[in-house]
Amino acid sequence: MSCFSSADESAHYGFSVCMLLQHYREQLGWERDGVVELGTGDATAIADVVAGLPGLRVRSFDISAPSVAQAQANIAGRGVADRYTVELGDFFDGADSTGAPAARTVISNPPYIPAPDRDILMPELWGGIYGNDLSLALLKAGYDNVVLAVPSYSDPVTTLGTAADLGYRVVNFLAMGLDFGPYSAEPKVARHIRRIVDEGRGWAGDDEYMVAVALFTRDDTIPGDRMGQLLKALQLG
Ligand SMILES: C[S@@+](CC[C@H](N)C(=O)[O-])C[C@H]1O[C@@H](n2cnc3c(N)ncnc32)[C@H](O)[C@@H]1O
Repeated sequence: MSCFSSADESAHYGFSVCMLLQHYREQLGWERDGVVELGTGDATAIADVVAGLPGLRVRSFDISAPSVAQAQANIAGRGVADRYTVELGDFFDGADSTGAPAARTVISNPPYIPAPDRDILMPELWGGIYGNDLSLALLKAGYDNVVLAVPSYSDPVTTLGTAADLGYRVVNFLAMGLDFGPYSAEPKVARHIRRIVDEGRGWAGDDEYMVAVALFTRDDTIPGDRMGQLLKALQLG
């Protein structure tokens, strides 16, 4: 087993989380409630965000033991261990497990690799057959605000449709084109992505795709709905 490692993708996730948390600081209320995170990885992206936003506390979970060990070292090295904590385990088992006030905002660059089964380069990144199983579970977990990376090849129409059915709007998003990294380019995965695209349930070029980090909210005090724009931004090829 190894840690998730993808410099461009993680940097885009971290930068987008930082922009969205800063821009919607008062409405999200994270200085009061903190935020929780599904999937720490090696923690470098969000450790920088925590360092840059002095009022931010993040409670993060990862099921990969090597990732948690690496994350804890990186967080200590960045000097933010008092405000960025990492626990080994399934987010859905752990996030509501203390007596502390529950966070209203969850952030995640979730496992979203689509494949017929979990037997892929890093099994912890498997997102189910269409890649969006954990994204759908996160949207159903009851948070007011969900900052979520949405990839173009993992059935985003179903992800966004489910979000809308659950009462979420897309307040804003940051989209970036990415080349396939080692996990998407694994031949078994790349073939499966092609099938999803051919089925009309996603978009990807031969070796590139789009990821948007979007703020979904059910909070009436945060106006706007850019869900249509997000869907257009994810359509390439
Ligand atoms: C795409 S990586 C993102 C890592 C990091 N946030 C980043 O962007 O660099 C997704 C991470 O989620 C973790 N993960 C998968 N399923 C999980 C679950 N149920 N609960 C918590 N973490 C999970 C994986 O081990 C992996 O480290």
